[in-house]
Amino acid sequence: MARLADFRETVGIVTGASSGIGAQLAHDLAARGMRVALFARRADRLEEVATEIRRAGGDATVHVCDVSERASVEAEVGKVVERAGRVDLLVNNAGYGRHVLFKDHDVDDIERMMRTNYMSTVWATKAVLPAMRRRGRGWIVNVSSVAGKLGQPDEAAYSASKFAVTGLSEALAYELAPLGIHVLTVYPALIRTEMFTPDVMARMPARSISFLEPTVLSRDVLRALARGRHEVTVPRWVAFVYVLRALLPRFHRRMTSRVRLPVLPDLTT
Ligand SMILES: NC(=O)c1ccc[n+]([C@@H]2O[C@H](COP(=O)([O-])OP(=O)(O)OC[C@H]3O[C@@H](n4cnc5c(N)ncnc54)[C@H](OP(=O)(O)O)[C@@H]3O)[C@@H](O)[C@H]2O)c1
Repeated sequence: MARLADFRETVGIVTGASSGIGAQLAHDLAARGMRVALFARRADRLEEVATEIRRAGGDATVHVCDVSERASVEAEVGKVVERAGRVDLLVNNAGYGRHVLFKDHDVDDIERMMRTNYMSTVWATKAVLPAMRRRGRGWIVNVSSVAGKLGQPDEAAYSASKFAVTGLSEALAYELAPLGIHVLTVYPALIRTEMFTPDVMARMPARSISFLEPTVLSRDVLRALARGRHEVTVPRWVAFVYVLRALLPRFHRRMTSRVRLPVLPDLTT
């Protein structure tokens, strides 16, 4: 029951489907027979993704939605439930990061980030629960981040928002299992998407950067769903760093400081 491998006749929602990881997941789910509802703010980009999916023989609907607004999330999820009568899979993927030191980070943006990255997951999950409970089955995929396991300098607010996703997601995996709902938490490391603008790249240590393509992330998520896993880190070897952090915290801290801090010119200004 916890495994999801056959997507025929199923209905899914992917938030943040206008680019990057969400767009790739939407393509791959639709290619396997899922009817996908695409959520994001950029209507033109959503239409492009939907057109590509339809051209490949899939089924996609466009939902212009600002996930940082509760009413917008509830309204668009409501439309999917009303039209399809069911939601088999919810992928809470929409989110953004900011490479900025906490001392310089605008508080309004910190609040917006928390709503976009974390509260959107709360609202969307609440909104699909009645439909999933009625059928006694469902899958929820929450896209956290390695920054939601390991606090990252220059990404304090982002890390906090992703730690919130991690905590919610891990706890829900226990709470929702008796209702037939499976929760998978995804921890991407570095996936080549629009998140990594030249400004962001300038604040990252060049030596440690090795990107994976969204296709790899999507493949690993689908594999984790098929195997009934509760969490997946992409690439998998990064999960070793969680163990290092737990067993040798001082060593891990020294390494993180050594790698991340020297590229930040504004640390003490
Ligand atoms: N790439 C990585 O290495 C990496 C690592 C760890 C975690 N992640 C997480 O993966 C998720 C996807 O990011 P990505 O890498 O694929 O970056 P991306 O290409 O920038 O995609 C972000 C998506 O989120 C949507 N989004 C952002 N704010 C939104 C809002 N207020 N309302 C609705 N949609 C919103 C964007 O759509 P619109 O702009 O059209 O609204 C876009 O579709 C994010 O949660 C990110 O934190 C990525």
